[in-house]
Amino acid sequence: LDLVVLISGAGSNLRALLDATLDPDFPARVVAIGADRDAEGLALGEEYGVPSFTVPFTAYPDRETWGEALIEQIRGWGPDLVVLSGLMRLVPPAVVAEFSPMLLNTHPAYLPEFPGAHAVRDALAAGVDRTGASLIVVDDSVDGGPILAQERVPVLPGDTETSLHDRIKPVERRLLIDAVRDIATRRLNLEDSHA
Ligand code: GRF
Repeated sequence: LDLVVLISGAGSNLRALLDATLDPDFPARVVAIGADRDAEGLALGEEYGVPSFTVPFTAYPDRETWGEALIEQIRGWGPDLVVLSGLMRLVPPAVVAEFSPMLLNTHPAYLPEFPGAHAVRDALAAGVDRTGASLIVVDDSVDGGPILAQERVPVLPGDTETSLHDRIKPVERRLLIDAVRDIATRRLNLEDSHA
C-alpha cells in the first residue's frame, strides 16, 4: 500500500510510521512526505530516504488554489492512501473529493470531543480526567468524519499540554499503524466508510 503522509510540524507520528515500514513484512510504504510549510519533519525524508515536497500555504492566494496545487503534487506520487498526521491545516473540499475515503487524519482527542486545532489544550482547559486519540476518515467537516479507531488516554494531575500530548501521541501512532496494516491487508475496507 503506497502512502503519502502530510505534516506541518515535527512529524513524530510520521517517524513512527516510517519506522513501521522498515519492517519488510509491513504491507505499506511511505512514497512521499508533504508539508504545507517548511516543516521540521521534512528532514525525515533524508533520514529515511523518502522524497518530500512542500506546497506552502502562504504561496497561494487562497485555500482553494493551495488545495489544487496540493492535489497535483499528491496525485503525482500515485498513493493508495493519503494520511494527514500533524497537518495543521484544513484541506479544502476539492482535496476531500479527490482522495476521500482513502484520506485519513490522526487527532489527539476522543472525537467528537475536542475537535479542531487545539484539542489537547481544550481538554486540559475543560478539566476532564480522560481524553484520547482518534483516527478518522477526512470529510468536509472539521474532524467530524467517520471514526476508524479511537482509544481513551488519561489526563493526570499536573499535566501540561506537552505532557498530555506526549501521552496521546504514542496511542495515535499505534492506531494509525494498525489501521494502515488493516487497510493494506484488506481487513478494513474504507470504501464502506465513504465520507
Ligand atoms: C499530532 O498529535 C497530530 O494528531 C496533531 O498534531 C500532532 C502532530 O505531531 N494534528 P507530530 O508533528 O506528528 O509530532
